[in-house]
Amino acid sequence: MIYSRIAGTGSYLPAKIITNQDLEKLVDTTDEWIRTRTGIERRHVAAEGETTVDLAEHAARRAIEAAGIAPAEIDFIAFGTTTPDLVFPNCGTLLQQRLGCRGVPAFSLETACAGFMYALSIADKYVRCGEARRALVIGAETLSRITDWSDRATAVLFADGAGAVVLEAAASPGVLSTHLHSDGEYKDLLYCGSGVSKGFDAKLAISMTGSEVFKIAVTKLGQVVDETLSANGLERSSLDWLVPHQANIRIIQATARKLEIPMERVIVTVQDHGNTSAASVPMALDVAVREGRIRRGELLLLEAFGGGFTWGSALVRY
Ligand code: COA
Repeated sequence: MIYSRIAGTGSYLPAKIITNQDLEKLVDTTDEWIRTRTGIERRHVAAEGETTVDLAEHAARRAIEAAGIAPAEIDFIAFGTTTPDLVFPNCGTLLQQRLGCRGVPAFSLETACAGFMYALSIADKYVRCGEARRALVIGAETLSRITDWSDRATAVLFADGAGAVVLEAAASPGVLSTHLHSDGEYKDLLYCGSGVSKGFDAKLAISMTGSEVFKIAVTKLGQVVDETLSANGLERSSLDWLVPHQANIRIIQATARKLEIPMERVIVTVQDHGNTSAASVPMALDVAVREGRIRRGELLLLEAFGGGFTWGSALVRY
């Protein structure tokens, strides 16, 4: 049997930081409201002209270096993003050209905040079936470009960043299972109304019915973590770490409660990163790996939920 294992992680944040105090000057909000309702204290946003692929390239190079391989050894690229540089070529292919691994399959997919979970699941399948040996999996976003900075309901939440992992073929897992879901019934609760086929309108930004999104996110994430554990015949107590989507500290706490996992075993970066959509899980993973908290051999549950709705999880022996 061939499995995939995480050989290296990387992440990158653009230099510019917007604090809650900065937002107090832009919209009718307070640092206290943002911190207590979301857990967010600051977020990073891309500079003018800095794109999703620019951020992704930094994260990818760090993950490749951590894996101890050369960029040319990457033979598959799966890139989750909802904020691509261009309509086409896709971000995966743009990144492939920069890394110099020419000719390998590369694509991007847009499943909002679950983008990394979808990309990871697909890359894992390609490694398992022997068609890829070293897959680069990316989640990267410049959500600041589709955020209405005068809308306090969303401006306080979203941010930019990039995370990456290199998956490598291995004789033992690695990625134990992945679980993906979507339900378009909820499409009106969280969306960006601008598009290509429907008509491009740069004025249309992220629109969200926050309290409804909150409730459904907690329910669906609770279900998917149960599904993940039962698919592997595991008890909640087997988990070493929960690496959740960093949307809101209260959603993270609710999922941790469901798993009966103490917050000390939950990776939380939302205070520094905000909600970076597809970038959120791989960035949190990389932070925890580089801080030495997540160690080789430990069992991780990764999960994310976002617009669509789309959601998913992965159980990973790191
Ligand atoms: N600053 C100050 N007040 C704000 C505010 C802001 N940025 N945004 C909303 N408010 C106000 C509302 O107008 C409302 O005022 P009212 O009681 O006078 O009507 C009050 O705060 C409560 O609003 P509500 O929307 O009920 O708050 P909430 O506790 O649900 O928190 C969110 C709002 C957005 C933080 C929360 O619903 C959330 O995080 N939802 C999930 C969003 C998410 O994670 N989306 C991405 C999924 S990937």
